[in-house]
Amino acid sequence: MATLTRRKTASAPAVTVTRKEPSAVQFYATCPRGLAGALAEELSALGATEVRAGEAGVEFEGPFELAYAANLESRLATRILVRVSKFDYRNENDIYEGAKRVRWHAHFGVERTFKVETNAVKAPVKSLDFITLKVKDAVADVFREALGRRPDVATREPDVRVHAFLDAKWCTLYLDTSGEPLFKRGRRDKTGEAPLKKNLAAGLLKLSGWTPEQPLLDPMCGAGTILVEAAEMALGLAPGRGRPFGFERLTRFDPAAWEKVKEASSARAQPVGPRAIHGSDLYGRTLDNARANLRDMGLEGVVSLKQANLLELSAPASSGLLVTNPPYGVRLGEKEELAKFYPELGHLLKQKFAGWTAYIFSGDPDLPKLIRLSATKRTVLYNGAIECRLYEYRMVAGGNRP
Ligand SMILES: C[S@@+](CC[C@H](N)C(=O)[O-])C[C@H]1O[C@@H](n2cnc3c(N)ncnc32)[C@H](O)[C@@H]1O
Repeated sequence: MATLTRRKTASAPAVTVTRKEPSAVQFYATCPRGLAGALAEELSALGATEVRAGEAGVEFEGPFELAYAANLESRLATRILVRVSKFDYRNENDIYEGAKRVRWHAHFGVERTFKVETNAVKAPVKSLDFITLKVKDAVADVFREALGRRPDVATREPDVRVHAFLDAKWCTLYLDTSGEPLFKRGRRDKTGEAPLKKNLAAGLLKLSGWTPEQPLLDPMCGAGTILVEAAEMALGLAPGRGRPFGFERLTRFDPAAWEKVKEASSARAQPVGPRAIHGSDLYGRTLDNARANLRDMGLEGVVSLKQANLLELSAPASSGLLVTNPPYGVRLGEKEELAKFYPELGHLLKQKFAGWTAYIFSGDPDLPKLIRLSATKRTVLYNGAIECRLYEYRMVAGGNRP
């Protein structure tokens, strides 16, 4: 995808021409590339309408209050944005003029700090920083003309985030209803080696088709990111419980409606207790991090954890799903060691996991080939800018030869 930005790019939301309910607003949810289809399903289940998956996000419609449930309940979204304007442009000045037509002072109070971020795909402009500056000036000028005062800019922890998205012809301006990205579930975790982002971990579970009735194993669990997501899903706990959101700082925010959404969500929670969710890791210290993270999330006792070498493990049930993110080496010595490890992983799956389906997530194009089993499915997913794959191996006794 061509891009002019040093920052993360988002795919262009397509234009929809539909008859809308007067109260419907247009949303755009961003997510890791590869998860938009799954996110579209998740948002539809939350009541979104006119849902259209793009490459790295999903367009949808609904009442403004849908932002509350989407932020609270979505496991896959990175941000939920609400569209405030869309206009065609040819140059930087058109963007200033377009942004100047938005009644920003109706969207947030002058006492709030704000920040503008710009992403673009194939935009005919020289500098995205300059676009950011133009939008920021327009916001400030609208406030100054309406109220005689302007809100301050805060580059770190702003109250309100404005996102400008440019494609070749259109500039779309959004207000961010999430605040901190949604993969930050509210607590600072103890992390180990290369922890997965939480929405990506949830995405692996979603793509595997795991449901809480099935036994689940992550035998290289690291800090336990996949396990925490699974445990929360099993207990019906909202991923965003207990954290603040950007929509709380917008003028349209309705605290009473938000309380109702939270109450309805808490009412779905199941009692905490053991589930068939298993995790292990080679290192005791790593496992301590997983244990601490589960405890901090109130999930102690839901997951069974043990220190073990994967190569010495036996399946904890006669069938189930193994979902994991094995180590990948960056240094040469590590690569050589891993080149021995991957065939052993394949051998173990064949010997000990007949009846299971294994999902191996990797950003390394070569190592998974060394598993020497034929993958029944490969799904391309992005971990940030890194192209990764989720390999599915259906383990049938005596089968799965390359
Ligand atoms: C890429 S990390 C997994 C990160 C994890 N998904 C997370 O989000 O925190 C790979 C993990 O595999 C573990 N590991 C490496 N070799 C192992 C082995 N032989 N048996 C079990 N775990 C192993 C490492 O200790 C590390 O925690």
